[in-house]
Amino acid sequence: MDNRIEEIRKKALKQIEEAKNLQNLELARIKLLGRKGEITALMKTMKDIPKEKRPEFGELVNQAKNQIISDIAKKEEKYKQELINKKLESERIDVTLPSSKVKRGSKHPLNRVIEEIEDLFVSMGYDVMEGPELETDEYNFERLNLPQGHPARDMQDSFYITTEHLLRTQTSAVQARTLLGNKEKGPIREIVPGKTYRREDDATHSHQFNQVEALVVDKDISFADLKGTLEIFMKHMLGENTELRFRPSYFPFTEPSYEVDVSCFKCNGKGCNLCKKTGWIELLGAGIVHPNVLKMNGYDPDEYSGFAFGTGLDRLAMFKYGITDIRLLYENDVRFLSQFDRMD
Ligand code: DAH
Repeated sequence: MDNRIEEIRKKALKQIEEAKNLQNLELARIKLLGRKGEITALMKTMKDIPKEKRPEFGELVNQAKNQIISDIAKKEEKYKQELINKKLESERIDVTLPSSKVKRGSKHPLNRVIEEIEDLFVSMGYDVMEGPELETDEYNFERLNLPQGHPARDMQDSFYITTEHLLRTQTSAVQARTLLGNKEKGPIREIVPGKTYRREDDATHSHQFNQVEALVVDKDISFADLKGTLEIFMKHMLGENTELRFRPSYFPFTEPSYEVDVSCFKCNGKGCNLCKKTGWIELLGAGIVHPNVLKMNGYDPDEYSGFAFGTGLDRLAMFKYGITDIRLLYENDVRFLSQFDRMD
């Protein structure tokens, strides 16, 4: 009897010993301890054993069974630990490696220029205003003394959405909105930075670009105020040595009107490629607000006068930062934009 148990026990322990992985171990467990397993079968032979020998038999079988259970458990534990170790090994992180860099964003050159202009004009008591980019013909043209069929409309070949609505071609549109919207008809001092649209597309013109407009309306505003303000503005943006030149021009909403040039900051007026050998760079449109514009928008031109100017922010940013193609400002290439980080 003992031999039989001993034989089974040895065989069982050998099987456990030879089980190479968790699956084999489980198969061995079923084969030995399962419902149809060898130990279970051994137990079932109890009834054929003489009564007085049964306790001893039972004890021996139990001992064998417990040893098998314990051996399986030990091996199972070993294999599980090996699996865990393998997983840990495969997920190992080398904390001494340099970490991947967090990329820092940078301010767009146009925003830099806009913020610089806003800071300057706010310090002089101006409001910073906005207007809709989808504008009506009325504000974009009519109320600026550009009635239907006016030849000056051609210069601003436009994106019409309906016959009444267009993408604004100039931030000047906000002049009319402010004048008309000012219920007290009192003094105005505002700048309007914003996007504008025209049907143009080449290295120096984009179909979408940015302007900043300025409007000052008060009693006794004269050309001297315009000239002084533009001098402060341009010297601040392009350097103290910058000189201004006013050339007579035509805009329907100002009279008299001027094109304003600045001395070339690259060659200091000597003549170079940037200024096309002239020493001057054309940068602004400006003038004394046309009495018709004041009148049309509810101001009495005998009581009030004003000046206005408008300039392309893209051009200003290009000059300031030496950018040669306006389209670079709109492609959002990180390699281009990140260069301006170093300018702080
Ligand atoms: N709106 C003009 C343009 O886009 C620029 C301009 C000229 C604005 C004269 C003004 C001004 O306020 O007085 O070409």
